[in-house]
Amino acid sequence: MWKLFKGKEYKESNFSIEKNKIPKHIAIIMDGNGRWAEERKLPRTMGHKAGVETLKKIVREASDIGIKYLTAYSFSTENWKRSEEEVSGLMNLLVEFLRRDLKEMHENNIIINTLGDISKLPKPCIDILNESKEMTKNNTGMVLNLALNYGGRQEIVYAVRNIFKDYEDGKISKDIIANLKEEDFSNYIFTKGMPDPDIIIRPSGEQRLSNFMLWQCAYSEFLYNHINWPEFTIEDFHKAIEEYNNRDRRYGGTK
Ligand code: IPE
Ligand code: IPE
Ligand code: MG
Repeated sequence: MWKLFKGKEYKESNFSIEKNKIPKHIAIIMDGNGRWAEERKLPRTMGHKAGVETLKKIVREASDIGIKYLTAYSFSTENWKRSEEEVSGLMNLLVEFLRRDLKEMHENNIIINTLGDISKLPKPCIDILNESKEMTKNNTGMVLNLALNYGGRQEIVYAVRNIFKDYEDGKISKDIIANLKEEDFSNYIFTKGMPDPDIIIRPSGEQRLSNFMLWQCAYSEFLYNHINWPEFTIEDFHKAIEEYNNRDRRYGGTK
């Protein structure tokens, strides 16, 4: 339970789910912050600020339910195209979020991880991300993957480069590369060792992946709704899990 918030902001829900129906990995394309702000005649950054609050609620709930991996698409390799003001606003929010909530997440046994090339982020972001990973690395609870400067294509290209590097360093043989298996390749992507997402949720009405988890999404269940991310509630999260449990996953086979 979230000790710090119980009885305060946090409200226990009646949602219950059988253990074997809990998805292992939920990924969210947090979208619609800008539209939420524009509808209210607020600057876009205010939408992102509200979006961080939603993320916090969902992290708490996902951890309570017993989800093992929660991935939040937070900044794509294409998001650098936005105005400098918006990009720096997003970066500042990331630092603020971790400064404020790291301790609480740590107390709740959460492991903070990143997906993407964080070396290109501003130094204060890199520092707090490294501190967060270091602090939480021995935890055993939910893994919170923050996808930052993440792109699915970039991930695949980096994997190929790293395979080549390992070959040059004598860590893998030509033979392994010539007969490369899907499992071998999976060891070179950011989600190494993690299950593929069972569900990819995209709020705000868009029905596209926007360069998210191109390798991992092969058999993910895609769910979307028309709610902008700042207004996405715990009930919407429960609904997504329920809808997922009504899907028939066949993986190309037959019943
Ligand atoms: C998602 O909200 C947050 C990020 C991409 C960082 P947007 O900023 O894309 O919101 P819309 O799509 O403009 O409404
Ligand atoms: C995807 O949303 C990236 C994140 C949510 C971080 P975008 O808003 O950037 O995607 P497009 O431009 O609508 O495809
Ligand atoms: Mg968007």
